Amino acid sequence: PSLDAFIAGLPKAELHLHIEGSLEPELMFALAQRNRIALPFKSVEEVRAAYEFSNLQDFLDIYYQGADVLRTEQDFHDLAKAYFDRAHADSVRHAEIFFDPQTHTDRGIPMSVVMDGLTSGMKAAEAEYGLTSKLILCFLRHLDEDAAFATLKAAEPFLDRLTGVGLDSSEVGHPPSKFTRVFDAAGALGLKKVAHAGEEGPPEYVHEALDILKVDRIDHGNRSLEDAHLTSRLARLGMTLTVCPLSNLKLCVVTDMAQHPIRTMLNKGLRATLNSDDPAYFGGYVNDNYRAVAASGLVDRDDLITLARNSFLGSFLGDAEVFRHL
Ligand code: ADE
Ligand code: ZN
Repeated sequence: PSLDAFIAGLPKAELHLHIEGSLEPELMFALAQRNRIALPFKSVEEVRAAYEFSNLQDFLDIYYQGADVLRTEQDFHDLAKAYFDRAHADSVRHAEIFFDPQTHTDRGIPMSVVMDGLTSGMKAAEAEYGLTSKLILCFLRHLDEDAAFATLKAAEPFLDRLTGVGLDSSEVGHPPSKFTRVFDAAGALGLKKVAHAGEEGPPEYVHEALDILKVDRIDHGNRSLEDAHLTSRLARLGMTLTVCPLSNLKLCVVTDMAQHPIRTMLNKGLRATLNSDDPAYFGGYVNDNYRAVAASGLVDRDDLITLARNSFLGSFLGDAEVFRHL
């Protein structure tokens, strides 16, 4: 098959996807109309034109603003189902999706509305496509520890629907160590732990995520490569990195796709995976990310198979389910 067809048909898992970041401008307009909300944009084209970012914070400002159209259980259901429709078209068999409850509860949306809408979208995708999914609650790291604890408490009635906790939003100045106690509490509840680290922040933040938060995966992890000891430690641990090439390009974490660290990560024996992060904002879903690194000449077909295989190995599926996919 052609490279495009090879990528399109390659069964894969997606492990780094913010569901609020899958809100396409068309759905944003539809929800704004349904909820009678005035948007600061006149058209879908105007929204897309605003998606030019010079760093993570630039993006986050517009991403939190976009999420304001999400109000009802049906909105969260529609958001999730739209993502799963796209993921299914990309041969995604399993997805572990992030959500940012604080973005919603701080606007007065109850946790139950968010949870019920997202989980009904997940159920619909499994029924329609056999696409399985898990939910990871992310704490916003620019907010304080008390707010994270309040969020964990609000989520406790829904514990059976959560697989793990994560840490996202503005990285620099908000090290993993700020959330030591809340990650300990989440671990005690039986939740898995992941954290964004080494996207814009230094290798020290990746060390903290491992040593202090005791994470099961690192989200991004790009800057780990600046530290040779950290790099060999990640390889030795078989630690999964959820890498997001188009995100890195749009947020100026890399200057050009040919400079992307994915090649070095594979050379160093790191268990890297490819993911879309916030596909509606970064110009592509997971297959677009596979195509982008392949087109830049960084990886060949064998590498693409390795990356897809890593996505199942790095998932929170049980061994029997992982083997079913390999
Ligand atoms: N929230 C959504 N996408 C994010 C990213 N790439 N980094 C940090 N926080 C995020
Ligand atoms: Zn992310």
